[in-house]
Amino acid sequence: MNILIIKSSPHKKGSSNLLAENFIRGAEEKGHQVSIFDAGHAKLHPCLGCDACHMNGLCIQKDDMTELRSQILDSDMAVFVTPIYYFGMSAQLKTVIDRFYSFNSELMEKALKTMLIAAAWDSNDWTMKDISAHYETLCRYLNFKDQGQILGIGCGNVSMTKSTEFPEQAYRLGKTI
Ligand SMILES: Cc1cc2nc3c(=O)[nH]c(=O)nc-3n(C[C@H](O)[C@H](O)[C@H](O)COP(=O)(O)O)c2cc1C
Repeated sequence: MNILIIKSSPHKKGSSNLLAENFIRGAEEKGHQVSIFDAGHAKLHPCLGCDACHMNGLCIQKDDMTELRSQILDSDMAVFVTPIYYFGMSAQLKTVIDRFYSFNSELMEKALKTMLIAAAWDSNDWTMKDISAHYETLCRYLNFKDQGQILGIGCGNVSMTKSTEFPEQAYRLGKTI
């Protein structure tokens, strides 16, 4: 499978990317081809809501979303990787998702396999409730085929993350897809 990892943290070597790296190691050992798009450091503008695309055409904005759009459409699976910001995804990842608007129909038809990898500081049993529900609703609406969620609670920084079970969980998920 061609797997596209969509990172979205400003921390290149942070907690969510550490979990993603473990997933990648497992997936590559299994023989999958992995490519990475770093939305945390890309040139991406929010959707203007101009509707010039009519949800099925070209976006009038010329930025890195042009590349990401073709990368997604060429992939069998996308992995959304995000730090938890106020109990949701990062603005960087939300920007990517809002920009799906211009190829909404194509995405629905594709039935893309997807996964979510998230890292949060807190470890309450409700820390991941909203991100997980949002992701599941996106899967339902966009006809994504969910392959699993790594919900890293108590992953506030790299050393905290390394002391949890989540890097191993991400590795094993990579190995089993
Ligand atoms: C703007 C901002 C908002 C945050 N909101 C939350 C939150 O709602 N819940 C939580 O547990 N951690 C929150 N955190 C902590 C991060 O999710 C946590 O440090 C995470 O490990 C960062 O991942 P990264 O290193 O991949 O960027 C927040 C951090 C920032 C900077």
